[in-house]
Amino acid sequence: MTRHVHKGNDLSHNAAAKGPENVTRDVASPRVHGFGTSVFTEMSRLANQHGAVNLGQGFPDFPGPSFVKDAAKSAIDANLNQYAVSHGAPRLRAAIASMWNERYGMDIDPDREITVTSGATEAIFDAVQALAGPGDEIVAFEPFYDSYLPSAIMASATIRTVTLRPPDWTFDPEEAAAAFGPRTRVLLLNTPHNPTGKVFTRDELAVLAELCRRWDVVAVTDEVYERIVFDDAEHLPLATLPGMWERTLTINSTGKTFSMTGWKVGYAIGPASLNAPLRAVHQFVTFASATPFQEAMATALEQAPELGYYADLSRDYHWRRDALKAVLDGANLPTLPVAGAYFLMSDISHLGFESDVEFCRWLTSEIGVAAIPPSAFYLDPARAPLLARFCFAKRAETIQRAAERLAMVPERTRAGA
Ligand SMILES: Cc1ncc(COP(=O)(O)O)c(C=O)c1O
Repeated sequence: MTRHVHKGNDLSHNAAAKGPENVTRDVASPRVHGFGTSVFTEMSRLANQHGAVNLGQGFPDFPGPSFVKDAAKSAIDANLNQYAVSHGAPRLRAAIASMWNERYGMDIDPDREITVTSGATEAIFDAVQALAGPGDEIVAFEPFYDSYLPSAIMASATIRTVTLRPPDWTFDPEEAAAAFGPRTRVLLLNTPHNPTGKVFTRDELAVLAELCRRWDVVAVTDEVYERIVFDDAEHLPLATLPGMWERTLTINSTGKTFSMTGWKVGYAIGPASLNAPLRAVHQFVTFASATPFQEAMATALEQAPELGYYADLSRDYHWRRDALKAVLDGANLPTLPVAGAYFLMSDISHLGFESDVEFCRWLTSEIGVAAIPPSAFYLDPARAPLLARFCFAKRAETIQRAAERLAMVPERTRAGA
C-alpha cells in the first residue's frame, strides 16, 4: 500500500498556522501541513489534565545511572562545553567502535564509519534525506515509529508498508517481496520494535537481506532498544548478515540503553559510503550534539560492561515487564507476547470501544491511566487492530499506582462506560 497521507492534525486549516494578522497567506509550507499535534502530545496533555499515571509516552521515570550523570557533570566542569566535532566526539566514536568489535567481532573505523547525532530521531531524519528523494520509495513495516512518515515527506519520498500481524507480529514474505521494486531506495527497519515488542529473527532478517540485495536497496535500521530483549529473544543487527554491512546504516540511541532519553545522544554506524551522505545532512541540521553528554556517553559505554550494567538493565526490565503484564492481564486487558523494547500491547477488542483512541481517552480521563493508541503508528488508522500500548519503563511505585486504578477497568467497562 502506497500513500502520501499525513498523520496528525491538518495544519492547513489551522488558524495557528497562519502568521500575524497582516500576513494573509497560509505561512506553513504544504510539506508540513499534516504534521499537527501528535497523539503522544495529546495523551500527555490529557494525562496532566486528569492527574493520570502516564504509561503513554515511552520514557523511563526512574533516574539514569549515577556514574553516567557524574561523567556529564565532570565534562561540564572540565569545560568541555564548546561545539563537538560535527560527526561526534572522538572518545565517543571510539567507544562505539570498540563496543561493536566486542559484540559482533567487526572492525569499525570510528573516523569514517560512525556519526553521532542528536538522538536516533535526527539520525533517521538525516538518513532518509540523504538516501531518498522525490519519486523514491521507502519500505517500512507497519505499525511504524511516528517519525518515519514525516522524515519521508520532508524528502518527498513515499512509504510502502508491509503489515506485521498480531499476536506474534509476523509478516508475509510475499507481501514483503511485493513491496520492493525499482523505485525502492531504502528499507527502514525497526528491531526490537516499537510498539509491538517484536524482535526480528535471523530467518526474517535473511528474507529482508535477500530483498535488499536483489533490488540494490540500502537498509536503515532503527535499533534503539537493542539492549532491551526478553527471555530467549536475541537482537541481531541486519548489518551483521552476509553482504549487509556494505548496504546498512545502523541507528542507535544511548537514551534508551542508559535511561537518559532527554540527553538525545544517538549515532549511526555504517560504511563510509553511507556515512558521508548522512554527515552531509547532519552538518546542516544540528551540526553537532551536546558535547558534555557525548563525553558522558563515552564513559557510559566504556564502563558499562565491567560494572555489570547491561545485566542489571536486562534483569530490571524483565521485572518491570512481568509486573505490568500481571497488572494488565488481571484488569481484563490481556497482553500480547513481547520479545523486546519496553511496551506491552493489550487487547481491547472485547471492551466495546469504537477505536483505540476512544479507549485511550476514556482510560486517561475516567480511570486515570494514560496509554497510547497504536493506530498512531499506521498510515491508515482504520487498519490498526484494537489494542492499547502501555510503557513499562516505570518505577515499582508507578506500576503500583497504575494497578490500583486499572483494577477499576473490569467493573467500569461492564457498567457500559
Ligand atoms: C523506535 C524508536 N526509534 C527512535 C526513537 C527516538 O530515539 P531518540 O530519543 O534517541 O531520538 C524512539 C523513541 O521512542 C523509538 O521508540
